[in-house]
Amino acid sequence: MSSNHCLLIRHARILLPTGEFVVGDIETRGREIVRVESEIPPSTRVDKEIDANGLTLLPGVIDPQVHFREPGLEHKEDLFSASCACAKGGVTSFLEMPNTRPLTITQAALDDKLQRSADHCLVNYGFFIGATPENLPDLRDAQPTCGIKIFMGSAHGHLLVDHEEVLEPIFAQGDRLIAVHAEDQARIRARREQFAGITDPAIHSQIQDSQAAVNATKLALKLSKKYQRRLHILHLSTGEEAQLLRQDKPSWVTAEVTPQHLLLNTSAYEKIGTLAQMNPPLRTPQDNQVLWQALLDGVIDFIATDHAPHTLEEKAKGYPHSPSGMPGVETSLPLMLTQAMEGRCTIAQVSNWMSTAVAQAYRIPNKGAIAPGYDADLVLVDLDNYRPVVREEVLTKCGWSPFEGWNLTGWPVITIVGGQIVYERGQLHTEVRGQPLAFDA
Ligand code: DOR
Repeated sequence: MSSNHCLLIRHARILLPTGEFVVGDIETRGREIVRVESEIPPSTRVDKEIDANGLTLLPGVIDPQVHFREPGLEHKEDLFSASCACAKGGVTSFLEMPNTRPLTITQAALDDKLQRSADHCLVNYGFFIGATPENLPDLRDAQPTCGIKIFMGSAHGHLLVDHEEVLEPIFAQGDRLIAVHAEDQARIRARREQFAGITDPAIHSQIQDSQAAVNATKLALKLSKKYQRRLHILHLSTGEEAQLLRQDKPSWVTAEVTPQHLLLNTSAYEKIGTLAQMNPPLRTPQDNQVLWQALLDGVIDFIATDHAPHTLEEKAKGYPHSPSGMPGVETSLPLMLTQAMEGRCTIAQVSNWMSTAVAQAYRIPNKGAIAPGYDADLVLVDLDNYRPVVREEVLTKCGWSPFEGWNLTGWPVITIVGGQIVYERGQLHTEVRGQPLAFDA
């Protein structure tokens, strides 16, 4: 593709940065959006024209928390398979977590992921650097990274940083964003012993209970306030944490929620067993409600999937030997757009939570809006047709979804990354490559 490749999308229902919709045309040249107008006159320089009549054009989804397993755990997923799933799901950029093998805790490991992504990844990519008790200089200096990931709980070995005296120097030094998996590991450990021998996966939500999440979120907030350090709370799962933030959320703190913590609860264990097992665990219907309200009110800033694939064989080991995590990048946009079509929120809010607000929080330039000068990362969705989530159709290597059978609308029809069509009506263009994301200081 030439660097001046020109795409014309006609008659789309376009979401503008104001949150309003207009029916019109957009032109992209190279990687950029160059024109958004009610009607762009015909021109010979257009390489491809798309008739988007009846379709809605949104900024591409930026998924700010995924686990794509490469290097080291490629039997579950790899950057190619995961980015195919992204393209199908309208996810044009992702931020990936450091619990791969080796762990992403050094510049060399970060460079390796960037190179692998340049070679294999169909969408844009960014990576967290993982905190250990020993890698402070790497946390300060590694580039480019969207931020520091701290597992305060639910991690093994080196990536676990669960004591205040070890956490404090990380908050005290440097100024880049710190994203926390907030669960209290000491409490989890004690409760694991208390409930040992129980094999019903529903016990997972009691072992890693709400209090475990609240304790860790409180500690992270305390340290963030002490040092006025940018803090992002990953996958908020409890109503109590949402209320905590509602009462006192410093301007430099952000929080996210996953579709599964909004839409699934502990009743899922009866239906899908260990496939519902994740960290932090699913909670009660009451938590679903409080999290939704917090999202609507802006207490929670955006949405991430925490795409964390494990194979069906691994999940079949039975609790507590089954690993925690579920895939998400293929279903997150249609799940949320279906909620919007059911009146729980607006399409513009979904797009803000899944793109604009993420770009703002992570300071990713030129993404998250449809306007001239912005990157041409776009998704055309069909809001008029409903289709179920079907196991046989998923592209994630793990081969299942917790939402199988859910009848959804808003499925992507065409996904565009940097002005290139990467997914079109069921077909992937696997030769397309994304770009490394930039993060402003
Ligand atoms: O359920 C989870 N699984 N939560 C995490 O934070 C990690 C993830 C994984 O990597 O499997």
